[in-house]
Amino acid sequence: MDKTVHYSEDDKKVYYINRYLKLKQKIRELRILALTGITEAGSGHPGASFSAAEIMGSLYFQIMNVDLSNPSLSNRDYFVNSKAHSAPGYYATLCLAGSFPKEEMLTLRKLNSRLQGHPVRYSEHQKHHSVPGIEYSGGSEGIGLSVSIGLCLANRLDKYNNTVYCLLGDGETNEGQVWEASMAAAKFRLDNLVAILDRNKIQQDGFTEDIMPIDPIKEKWRSFNWDVVEINGHKIEQLIPELLNRPEDKPKIIIANTVKGNGIKHMANNPQWHGKAPSKKHLPLLIEELEGDYMISPSIIAGPSGIGEKSLIQKIEMAEKYGADMIHLDVMDGKFVPNTTFSFDMIKKLRGITKLPFDAHLMIEDPNSSLDSFIDAGCDIITIHSEVCNSEKDFENMNSRLLSNGISPGLAINPSTNLPEWIYSHLDNLDVLIIMSVNPGFAGQKFIPEVLPKMKELIPRLREKGYKGYIEADGGIDQSTIVDCYEAGCRVFVMGNAIFGSEDVDKRISEAKFKVDSYLEQTLLDRSQNLNIRDDWIKARKTILDRYGIKGV
Ligand code: DX5
Ligand code: ZN
Repeated sequence: MDKTVHYSEDDKKVYYINRYLKLKQKIRELRILALTGITEAGSGHPGASFSAAEIMGSLYFQIMNVDLSNPSLSNRDYFVNSKAHSAPGYYATLCLAGSFPKEEMLTLRKLNSRLQGHPVRYSEHQKHHSVPGIEYSGGSEGIGLSVSIGLCLANRLDKYNNTVYCLLGDGETNEGQVWEASMAAAKFRLDNLVAILDRNKIQQDGFTEDIMPIDPIKEKWRSFNWDVVEINGHKIEQLIPELLNRPEDKPKIIIANTVKGNGIKHMANNPQWHGKAPSKKHLPLLIEELEGDYMISPSIIAGPSGIGEKSLIQKIEMAEKYGADMIHLDVMDGKFVPNTTFSFDMIKKLRGITKLPFDAHLMIEDPNSSLDSFIDAGCDIITIHSEVCNSEKDFENMNSRLLSNGISPGLAINPSTNLPEWIYSHLDNLDVLIIMSVNPGFAGQKFIPEVLPKMKELIPRLREKGYKGYIEADGGIDQSTIVDCYEAGCRVFVMGNAIFGSEDVDKRISEAKFKVDSYLEQTLLDRSQNLNIRDDWIKARKTILDRYGIKGV
């Protein structure tokens, strides 16, 4: 099995995420591609494309059994995009999944293009009308669930063991037909149907609860005899287990709480951006914002409460509650570093309490001999130190074991270590590079300032050579150092003492995010000047600039 193990809190079933960081990166690319098409067209629906980006990306890049070079394969999984106006995001997803070349995104909504405002079902005989993978012609809302039921019944007759995934918009469920279909799906006990409600709370030009309230939406579906779960639709670690897990004897709906326009601050949760294209002149700034996305990975060895199991659990729970993106697990063996923490057995115990990705940093002399146990413990990311790779072969061997188990592989370098030259032939297989900003061994040390010029020299060189993965800063990251590392190109921040050194975990995490977000906001404003669109940009970003106290004039 080539995937990472995950355990749910409730039933301890095993789930899978394949290369978590790579998937994140691909979904970011999806948003950029969709926006590129929309700005070129001068029209389209960015809001819905962005609220559903993680849903569509998880399905096509990871979950569904589809082959876009042979799209009519029997027994394939189906995706019915009932809220068809999310077309730009849908096309971008199909494109990155191999349906058609990237350049074609620039034909979005143009005359004679296959990428029209609403998708058209693909057929072998009419290849010029549509692109491989589209199963359903959408446009009128409210119909996709009925079509999905037909597909499910046909698949059942054919004795296929496949799934039909149907994406519904929340505004769309104003349509009576959705509820008729809902009754029918329950009557036929369609356990091969998974609907996903993109619950972004906005339809057309206003908020769903003002236009036509649909809450309590969970209870409604439940009363129609569906299996109902509710998750954060932007968290792939929550989406993937629910997309994979099918109940017996019932259709399932995932209420995916999302933010319309998620990814671009001035579009987020703003009905104005339901169906409006941003100006093409803004595109470079919007891409910069999407590429500026970052993650906080709290190191749970830090803080006065120590590293007993109870304390580690408490720290994980707090980190999750207050918006951490991952959990950083510092494994120390007392040999590679002068300190011992915990090993794979503790990680295995902790795995069940959260779905947040586990970012394991192995500061051990001999990772080779215990790698399988760390894989088995449920880590999503495993980083080994370059100092213990005796040769490129050594690295290759461990790297390929991680990859074949669906783990995101990482490499770490100490402050005084140079990046080994051989890594440049493995950049596609490296999901994260940790640049240590303290000598590893203990939380709570001071950031070594000489690491900054090293980051500034190394990161652009890696990008030049085509490295697309993450750079993670680890050691002494706090309010005063995080922005410098962000500016240098780091996008994952390990924070130990700065988060758990005080009681106020909530405040510490949000203050760090505020620092980075305001830096990015200021940078975008400065760039708008160079692009000669400053006034226009200020107009678009007014409320965001105010939020960070940045004066536009
Ligand atoms: C250092 C570890 C770090 C460290 C982070 O050996 O790899 O992850 O614990 O803690 P702070 O942020 O306190 O330096
Ligand atoms: Zn670490």
